[in-house]
Amino acid sequence: MSDTPTTAHLWRHWPYPRVVSHRGGGKLAPENTLAAFEMGASLGLRMVEFDAKLSADNVVFLLHDDTVDRTSNGHGAAAQMTYDEIAKLDAGSWFDERFAGQAMPTLAQVAERCLALGLAANVEIKPCPGREVETGKRVAEAVRTLWAGHPQPPLLSSFSYEALEAAAAAAPELPRGMLYEAVPAHWRDDARKLGTVSLHANHKHLDGPQVSEIKAAGLQMLVYTVNEPARARELAAWGVDAICTDRIDLIGADFLADA
Ligand code: G3P
Ligand code: MG
Repeated sequence: MSDTPTTAHLWRHWPYPRVVSHRGGGKLAPENTLAAFEMGASLGLRMVEFDAKLSADNVVFLLHDDTVDRTSNGHGAAAQMTYDEIAKLDAGSWFDERFAGQAMPTLAQVAERCLALGLAANVEIKPCPGREVETGKRVAEAVRTLWAGHPQPPLLSSFSYEALEAAAAAAPELPRGMLYEAVPAHWRDDARKLGTVSLHANHKHLDGPQVSEIKAAGLQMLVYTVNEPARARELAAWGVDAICTDRIDLIGADFLADA
């Protein structure tokens, strides 16, 4: 694909909160469920990150892994299951019986809940293997429709360059951030080609000078998964804009307000 026109100039004012609840409710609720969003909101969080992929019949729904095994009472690859089959699974009991009956929600259900709870969203596009382009395109189209007219659209991110490229082609107006484990040497090229507004990285591999370099390039920075309050403060002092955390009990919505 040729270079995507950048939207970065529109994002000098970062509209997102500084603390983002990982997978909905961090470690306090079963990940990627509606109960997780309610948990985040009940603790005052104002932004959530979650993982979105496609069922076999192309419904966008929330799940982190390629299979349903770890986070539900079902078995098998999500890419082979229809959403009707997925919706019947219990995605709460594995975490705690208190959450029995929680489902893997559709993106449509999640949008409705985020808007009702006043939660901003970071939609991580997490394609099943081989479905990168289709997933990027369908997630972006769904986000555009579900959040239409809302002043703070979800921030799209992905570890998959192909998925983010397809999202950019489908809905160029939506903000995007490339997601990395360790930031590679070609991060500037990725940002330029994808027209990203932010760069997302695992904080464990970062240092202050690298954060300064990324910020000087005009990108916002979101780092994951920061569970130590002292580390959150250090990263903020380096210039990181937002941290994604499991420990929403320790690192609350306003934790970095004065950082
Ligand atoms: O988007 C940040 C973070 O969620 C990336 O890692 O594996 O938890 O989806 P993971
Ligand atoms: Mg994620």
